[in-house]
Amino acid sequence: MTKDILILGIETSCDETAAAVVKNGREVLSNIISSQIELHKLYGGVVPEIASRKHIEKINQVIEEALTTAEVSLDDIDAIGVTYGPGLVGALLVGVAEAKAISFAKNIPLVGVHHIEGHVSANYIENKDLEPPFLCLIVSGGHTHLVLVKEYGTYEIIGRTRDDAAGEAFDKVARAIGLGYPGGPKIDKLSKEGNKKAISFPRAHIEGAPYDFSFSGLKSAVLNHINICEMKQEEINRADIAASFQEAVIDVLVTKAMLAAKDFGMKTVAIAGGVASNSSLREAMATACKEKGLTFYHPSPIFCTDNAAMIGTAAYYEYLKGTRSGLDLNAVPNLKIGER
Ligand code: KG4
Ligand code: ZN
Repeated sequence: MTKDILILGIETSCDETAAAVVKNGREVLSNIISSQIELHKLYGGVVPEIASRKHIEKINQVIEEALTTAEVSLDDIDAIGVTYGPGLVGALLVGVAEAKAISFAKNIPLVGVHHIEGHVSANYIENKDLEPPFLCLIVSGGHTHLVLVKEYGTYEIIGRTRDDAAGEAFDKVARAIGLGYPGGPKIDKLSKEGNKKAISFPRAHIEGAPYDFSFSGLKSAVLNHINICEMKQEEINRADIAASFQEAVIDVLVTKAMLAAKDFGMKTVAIAGGVASNSSLREAMATACKEKGLTFYHPSPIFCTDNAAMIGTAAYYEYLKGTRSGLDLNAVPNLKIGER
């Protein structure tokens, strides 16, 4: 029997301080997340300086809890996987410095992980049969990408947003209709009370770039709609706006994902990132994939939003390939997918 490989995952790229222990890439022994959302809510969005300070306060505690819950000690850990980009530089640095310190003190190999590759890898956790190649739609607060996952850790980006990320559009529209931060889950909930056909918002299709996205026009259309209502002194129906906006985003995401799957001959489609926890997006993707005879995978909501289990899983496949980071590993706020 081969020996189990235990990875300690660490994630601090934005407003979640997270640590997890993952066994053999797909079994999560612990997944501890200390969210700062309540704190940032006061300011209507993430305040980078506050995020970094909170990470420093929480990181040791969160790692200890991850080890205790998994009933292991650092001596059992085979490698440390840590997010080193993209994200907020001060926030990333906390996780990277912590991971390097443990790696040095306990002589444990270090594997730097790309945050978005972590999101994609979240799909491996609960879907034990999922293997590359597959198409992945990544929709988070900072990224909107269509990628071909060719092998473990090998990605080809075929589409990206030209302006706002899908999650960013959710957050901005939520703010405009007074829902507060973070907007995605609130729009998801309010949409259920609204009519998604009430307002016809635009769907952007970009000439010559069929897999690229653009959400800034949609965001402006929502703001215009609100302004016009205010000028006419008409009451704003927030639920209808939320439902119609969400429908416009989902329509574009699903249409482009289906087109890419067809054009690139992909039989398997997955979704990843915070917006992938959106209930209507999950339903729409499931229906579209069923119609086209494609197999559809998605992580549970807890593995869609930021967590360290996904970082542990991504690190596991890199570890198997022999990827190791040195103690010169640094935070790279604008790290591109596939870059090392
Ligand atoms: O992946 P994530 O946790 O962090 C980043 O790497 O950006 O994504 C956060 C984003 C936020 O914009 C949040 O509003 C959005 O994901 N989000 C959602 C939902 N839950 C989180 N968007 C739509 N529906 C949701 N249920
Ligand atoms: Zn994320």
